[in-house]
Amino acid sequence: MKFELKSSLPKTDLLILLLQENEKVSVEAKKLLSANEFEQIEKRLKAKDFSGKCSENMVIYGDDKKLILMGMGKIEKDCIQPYEKAGGKSASMAKHLKASHVSVLIDEKNLAEYLNGFVLGNYEFNQFKKVDKDATKIESLTAICEKTAGTAAALLFAEYFDEGQKLIRDMVNTPAGSRNTIDVANLTKDLAKKYGIKCTVYDEKELKKMGCGAILGVGRGSEYPPRLITLEYNNKSKSKTPSVAFVGKGITFDTGGLNIKPTGHIETMKLDLAGAITVLATMILIARSKLQGNFVGVMAMAENAVSDRSMHPGDILKAYNGKTIEVLNTDAEGRLVLADALSFTEDKFKPQKMVDVATLTGAVTVALGYHISGIMGNNEDFIKEIMDSAKDAKERMWVLPMDKDFVEATKGEISDTKNATDGVRAGATMGAAFLQQFVEKTNWAHIDIGGTGWVEKPSSTIKFGGTAVILRTFWELAKRNSI
Ligand code: BES
Ligand code: ZN
Ligand code: ZN
Repeated sequence: MKFELKSSLPKTDLLILLLQENEKVSVEAKKLLSANEFEQIEKRLKAKDFSGKCSENMVIYGDDKKLILMGMGKIEKDCIQPYEKAGGKSASMAKHLKASHVSVLIDEKNLAEYLNGFVLGNYEFNQFKKVDKDATKIESLTAICEKTAGTAAALLFAEYFDEGQKLIRDMVNTPAGSRNTIDVANLTKDLAKKYGIKCTVYDEKELKKMGCGAILGVGRGSEYPPRLITLEYNNKSKSKTPSVAFVGKGITFDTGGLNIKPTGHIETMKLDLAGAITVLATMILIARSKLQGNFVGVMAMAENAVSDRSMHPGDILKAYNGKTIEVLNTDAEGRLVLADALSFTEDKFKPQKMVDVATLTGAVTVALGYHISGIMGNNEDFIKEIMDSAKDAKERMWVLPMDKDFVEATKGEISDTKNATDGVRAGATMGAAFLQQFVEKTNWAHIDIGGTGWVEKPSSTIKFGGTAVILRTFWELAKRNSI
């Protein structure tokens, strides 16, 4: 899809006008309409056929194009992420109305949010079904908006975001039977080469030599061995160490292991590599944008499978930093692969800050539901920086507590630490508290997307499967840490 910025209306199949509740057609909108089109809209507004309520919309047949009036409600009061939702709805309506060339009149302030919503709403995953050859594809989206440095940047970002979100959602939506740890490693190598990112893949033999017993333990039951993948990018930074290291959980499928997940909980577990692919997509965004600075990405790939070789509940693993972990629940495998990934990243790259993203717990939904990601960490300033980045990215995030007693509770009886704890509850916090033991001195934060990485209920922007959440937050964070 091509994104364009214009001050006047190009030849278009569909023009979208966003109207707040009881708002009249603006002077700018009037300029884009013929006298007849303007009159038709006025009539509808007068008759109160359309009043601009949130989620209300109306299609009008214009002279040489279709028109959509899209209700935005009383923005501050009624809607959450109103422009993202409007963008998503625009994309699906445009396809329904067979519009290949779409235009929207939008102000500078809301352009980025609208474009990102449009990108998310336009996504399809057709790899495994027969596609309708006559279905409309949107070829161009033209924003009628003032050209400024900000709007031009939003437009360029939309193009890169389109590719990034597609990568994450394609990988999350692809069944685990059709992509394994080795496939992900090969894809990552190819993409890294294409975008000029240095990529190193550590295989199971190297992981053994490095002392990464935790990721090896998780991957033991699978035909496809674990891979730890690093991505290094430096553009003009004199600093030898990265300003931010992004680390992601990459479980190609989470059966739960010998603590096998029951029906009703296992079906969506192909989502469990979302964190790692988010890291890959972030590094690609950074490279495509030629952001100046030093950044690192680390992907911890393994399959949590069931077999006679799977790790047992009660097994003790030794992580990269030498700490022993009693595996009290083989389903708490994300924190195991991240234990190695975080301690390795800190030791090898010595980043100034380190953030991980993971579908780590189902428990995070108890606290925050399906639309808000949880964040925890060891440094308030860094957490605030990420929260501010999320706000700029228009992604929702909330800080969960991680007081010392939670960390204390992860200490083991016969090992240094254990990966599950009875009777504490606070599942999302306990996941983070475990991870903290694998970060020595770096400013670190952990984002739990166990509730937000996958769609439970379709929305206007995301109808099924992977959501690509956090990619925009990471992009904002990277920009803040560029030189
Ligand atoms: N991948 C799951 C977490 C998850 C569950 C993500 C549902 C998205 C939706 C993770 O590996 C897991 O199984 N966590 C356990 C931890 C527990 C055994 C300590 C959980 O949250 O139940
Ligand atoms: Zn699990
Ligand atoms: Zn998992």
